Amino acid sequence: MLSMKRIIVVFCLLFASVYSDQDPFYLGSTLYAPYMTSPTEPLYSLVMQREFNIAVAENEMKFSGVHGGGQTIYDFSRADAIATLAMQNGMKMRGHTLVWHHAIPSWLSQGNYTSVQLAQILVGHITTVIQHYSQKYPGLILAWDVVNEAYNVEQGYLNEQAALIAAGKDPTDPANIKSPRTIWSKIGQFDAAGNPISTWDPLRDYVRLAFRTARAADPNVKLFYNDYSNEGISTGSTGNYNFVKGLVGEGVPIDGVGMQYHLLLNKPTDVNNYSQSTLLSNLQRYAALGLDIHITELDVRIPTSDATGFIPTTPDLLAAQTQVFANVAATCAQTPACKALLCWGFTYAHSWIPASFAFFGAATPFDQNYVPTPGYLALQKGLLLRKKCCF
Ligand code: G3I
Repeated sequence: MLSMKRIIVVFCLLFASVYSDQDPFYLGSTLYAPYMTSPTEPLYSLVMQREFNIAVAENEMKFSGVHGGGQTIYDFSRADAIATLAMQNGMKMRGHTLVWHHAIPSWLSQGNYTSVQLAQILVGHITTVIQHYSQKYPGLILAWDVVNEAYNVEQGYLNEQAALIAAGKDPTDPANIKSPRTIWSKIGQFDAAGNPISTWDPLRDYVRLAFRTARAADPNVKLFYNDYSNEGISTGSTGNYNFVKGLVGEGVPIDGVGMQYHLLLNKPTDVNNYSQSTLLSNLQRYAALGLDIHITELDVRIPTSDATGFIPTTPDLLAAQTQVFANVAATCAQTPACKALLCWGFTYAHSWIPASFAFFGAATPFDQNYVPTPGYLALQKGLLLRKKCCF
């Protein structure tokens, strides 16, 4: 006769396999292939393989990463090194990113292309990149960030225009504009002769075109819109939500929304900005649109006493950060539509934060010696809510 313990174990194994088959959860990070193969960085590879089942290339799959040499020249070598490593290690990948205003090569930014030419370039890029991965690495890419940060850049441009008009300055004079529109916004706004053809369109034709092209290139891969400042509930976050809702409402083929979660912690009280209830309400409104949600670029930066970003200025900061990691994980775990959580770098040693924000850092789930931080332990504990059984 089977002991009760054995029955529970068998039940749990069955439950776990069914649960994971039907509703796999992905936990991951950026992956940089040279670190993973470097003999001087054995822990990078070890931790990545041990902890994560999904990876994202921090820069290599961006437009300039694969399409930097000219309109018809693609070089997938650096991006493929990452894809190959991920495949060999049984990981999935998020494809990041097809259309963005950054990481644009000079042949494109300085090409003075018409809107029609830009549309051709966009279609060619998306089709070539998506099909390269679906053909060479079938099933590897779980989702593509088809468009990145369109709402925020458009909104920034609009706000700046309004401010210039209010100040009596010419809003069209490039000398006055600090946040120019993305190069892609030209698409659909001008005819072949360069004449404007439409009034302000908040959803942007290039966004529609990008998603439709991506769907045609591979009907099986998930298509995501990815942005920042869409994590909590605020005017900006609601604007971001309405942007996505507009795309869904129009029938643009979008499967999910990526929330970057580059969180900033200045002082312990800031933890309230990322309370579970706020984060949860936000996730739920996106889930109600029928979208999947991925937390795509999680880090929680705190002030550090060193420029390398390794030493938090006070232990309180680390404790407050730990609570934020816990809240984020628990919120995602409680939302069935939230299917992946990726950190933007996993070790203090290779994080974008210290180079971008002086005297900020300690933002990732492992420290510079690859020791898990309290934040990572809290993250893991929060995610256990999702597993429900057996862990
Ligand atoms: O590869 C060159 C190197 O050859 C050169 O010596 C060096 C000099 O500065 O630059 C190197 O390229 C830099 C690259 O990072 C690799 O370090 C680029 O200049 C720099 O612009 C690039 O920054 C990346 C940034 O996106 C822009 O593409 C960051 O690493 C990356 O973390 C950041 O990631 C973004 C996400 O894609 C979207 N969400 C926000 C997130 C953080 O900004």
